[in-house]
Amino acid sequence: MSDLNSEQAAVVELKNRRGARVIIAGPGTGKTKTMVALFNELREAGVPAANIRAVTFSKEAATTIEKRAGIKGVFSTFHSLGYEICSSVIRKPVEPELRYRLMCQLCRKWGLQYKDLDQFISQMRHANVSPAAAVESGKWGYAPSRAYAEYEKDRLAAGWMDFESMLCDAVAYLEDPQNRARWQFEYLIVDEAQDTDDLQWRMMQLLSEKHGNITVVGDPNQAIYTWRGASPENLTNFEKWFPGGRYFYLGRNYRSTQNVVKFVRENLPSDCPPALREAMVPARAEVGAPVGIKMFWGEDEEAEDALTKAQADPLNSIIIARTNRQLGVLERLCNEHSIRYHLLGKSGFWKQGEIRKVVEALKTYTALPLAAALNLAIPAVEKHYAVDDRTDLDNYALGNLASLKNQALKFQSTSEFVVWANKMMHRRNGAKGVTFATVHAAKGGEWKNVFLIGARADVMPHAKGDPREEARIYLVAISRAIDRLRISFAGTPSPYLRRYLTEDILDKLREKADEVDSLQAQTKLF
Ligand SMILES: Nc1ncnc2c1ncn2[C@@H]1O[C@H](COP(=O)(O)OP(=O)(O)OP(=O)(O)O)[C@@H](O)[C@H]1O
Ligand SMILES: [Mg+2]
Repeated sequence: MSDLNSEQAAVVELKNRRGARVIIAGPGTGKTKTMVALFNELREAGVPAANIRAVTFSKEAATTIEKRAGIKGVFSTFHSLGYEICSSVIRKPVEPELRYRLMCQLCRKWGLQYKDLDQFISQMRHANVSPAAAVESGKWGYAPSRAYAEYEKDRLAAGWMDFESMLCDAVAYLEDPQNRARWQFEYLIVDEAQDTDDLQWRMMQLLSEKHGNITVVGDPNQAIYTWRGASPENLTNFEKWFPGGRYFYLGRNYRSTQNVVKFVRENLPSDCPPALREAMVPARAEVGAPVGIKMFWGEDEEAEDALTKAQADPLNSIIIARTNRQLGVLERLCNEHSIRYHLLGKSGFWKQGEIRKVVEALKTYTALPLAAALNLAIPAVEKHYAVDDRTDLDNYALGNLASLKNQALKFQSTSEFVVWANKMMHRRNGAKGVTFATVHAAKGGEWKNVFLIGARADVMPHAKGDPREEARIYLVAISRAIDRLRISFAGTPSPYLRRYLTEDILDKLREKADEVDSLQAQTKLF
């Protein structure tokens, strides 16, 4: 406990450990570190690992935390916990084909689009609205509510679960007092709670009912999943879920240099409570390198430069982008130059469903000229995204498809492109090499050198995103840096950078845009 500051130590202290607590704090203030310390202290006090459960936002984050804590099998995601609970009552994961057939049948019957029904079911689940409640309330229209009800009826009768139902099924199972008696953890710890939805909060309540020891940490300014139903207000309004729960706050940022912390503070979302802004002070004494801004004429040059810089220290560097399409540029360049790279989480252009669908379709058109094959394959997939382009996380299917087409047209034949695309899709994610990630996948992590690419007007904030959420996404991105942060753009700079870009500085950036500059030289601009 000795390396915790007094605010962090207060969270871990024996006299405070019991009961429901929420810790609200900014980036780099040691929220995750404090949770790991709490876990270790509980273990040292003799609490068996099986009686403690810690939950965080992704499998990868869970593994990272486990490494820090030096233990396996304690940190998981809500999904895997849901899976564990459902598996214990012999419910099997569904064959995707079975689900697809049922969905198509319901769409035909109720006159719905596949994507609309899929989204509706997802929305209902995140908000923890049962089919009966959806039908009864009449708020969402008769057809989707009925289709949802029939979907659930068939699914439950057949005894299978789909990816999202794992959580609903787990919660439904836990709602029965006899069932949940078997799933009571003496201590429950939840990291990144700003990104959890009502269903997950209900799950927390149910799993901690008997002992009442739950510690939840999060930062409302870093909430980047509200579009998928997460409600960061649950953090600030903790008592709604846990009456009598106590609030803790952490202030100092231990992660970043003074320059980076200053930059983060200057760029907090405008709705950040002033008290939280004031609390954000650097703990580190190093002033550090100034934050760099660099302009490029084209996206390829920008990506290439970030790659070169990151390769100088690949283990300590990350290139972060807002969208998977931008990561596609990096992936292509790495392939061209045989550079090793590592993608975090679900990041990456070639992992996206719409890309895989088109490549699969192209395999059946190899006898056709490339342009003709693309004209058949792409629109067929595009039409699924015509209304709402946003698929998962920070993925924009239509932009990805346009980019795929551009890349494809550089090839001579359909089969030549298919061979290449197949190679890109099936590339193994090596542990070595430069790390790339979308902002969503980089959340919670920290790297010595952070290269944020694509900070241009239509991407950051993303033209299709909610402006308030986009501001938080930007905050998550810039607050990953330990020592150096460089932000770059090609074309028109992001409005987030505007305050730093006087005409004078813009002129200098333009002058330097076609030079390959050292990071240090760039940072002298401000
Ligand atoms: N009291 C401390 N003394 C020294 N280093 C600390 C202290 N608290 C935190 N750190 C270090 O600061 C860095 C950030 O900590 P951590 O990742 O726990 O922050 P966080 O609040 O979880 O950030 P984020 O909001 O990005 O998830 C880590 O490298 C951690 O080891
Ligand atoms: Mg953290």
